Amino acid sequence: MNLTIISGIEVSKKIKEEIAAQVKLNIAKGMKTPHLAAVLVGDDGASKTYVNAKVKACEAVGFKSTLVKLDENTTEEKLLEEIKKLNNDTDLDGFIVQLPLPKHINEQKVTQAISPLKDVDGFHPESLGKMLLDLPSFLPATPMGIIEMLKHYNIPTEGKHCVVIGRSHIVGSPMSVLMARNSYPGNCTVTLTHSRTKNLQEITLQADILIVAIGKPEFVTANMVKDGATVIDVGIHRIEDATKKNGFRLIGDVKFDEVAPKCAFISPVPGGVGPMTIASLLKNTLLASIHK
Ligand code: GUN
Repeated sequence: MNLTIISGIEVSKKIKEEIAAQVKLNIAKGMKTPHLAAVLVGDDGASKTYVNAKVKACEAVGFKSTLVKLDENTTEEKLLEEIKKLNNDTDLDGFIVQLPLPKHINEQKVTQAISPLKDVDGFHPESLGKMLLDLPSFLPATPMGIIEMLKHYNIPTEGKHCVVIGRSHIVGSPMSVLMARNSYPGNCTVTLTHSRTKNLQEITLQADILIVAIGKPEFVTANMVKDGATVIDVGIHRIEDATKKNGFRLIGDVKFDEVAPKCAFISPVPGGVGPMTIASLLKNTLLASIHK
């Protein structure tokens, strides 16, 4: 099988260059500098890394960015107050609240408090409802990044069987909707699988496109994948590794080494979906700044 390893790094670089060029043009025309804020509650190491990467990406494309750091013990009330401030900040085009949040904070309440006009993560019910109705909206960054990847590599989707593993609100569910849309990439027959699915292997073996967002390290093995499939790995896990300077390495939800030889296309971890999520967030922020 002729294998292509999808490079989220390369595709996201191209998207970021396009965004940077657009920002320059817009500023030259007198338009405002796009401004993104990220709210980080607590000290989770992985979340810190992701938020810092988002802020750094803003600098790289010429956006303004603000990092709002709140203590682990921040009350839900205080966080909602902070969100209200960000909603009312006229210079700010969009903002995200990094998930997961500490257990004492209700995530649904938080995502619903974000103004749909600034909801560049696409998690608000209004954004998700518009997505379902094919209306213009902010698409959730990870599914949107995967769509961009499929497009970049001209991966055929029409009439294909797409199997999604995982039904989270931020990846699996919206992904299944986007892959079934009447557009390219899309027009797939979609099966959304989850922890209660019976005979998972029987289903994944039928997948032309397998999108894995289950959050379990190396969950998908070679015997679950059809020859010539496209496999997109959304998982990201830190595994202790004493040979690394930082003490860990990253792996995905797919056992890459044994699955890759069976694939036509596969996205690696790291360097696959992760950078695409950030590129999509920037794209949404640029849109938010233009359509104010
Ligand atoms: N946690 C994991 N992925 C995401 C994401 O795309 N946005 C936010 N805000 N939190 C996340």
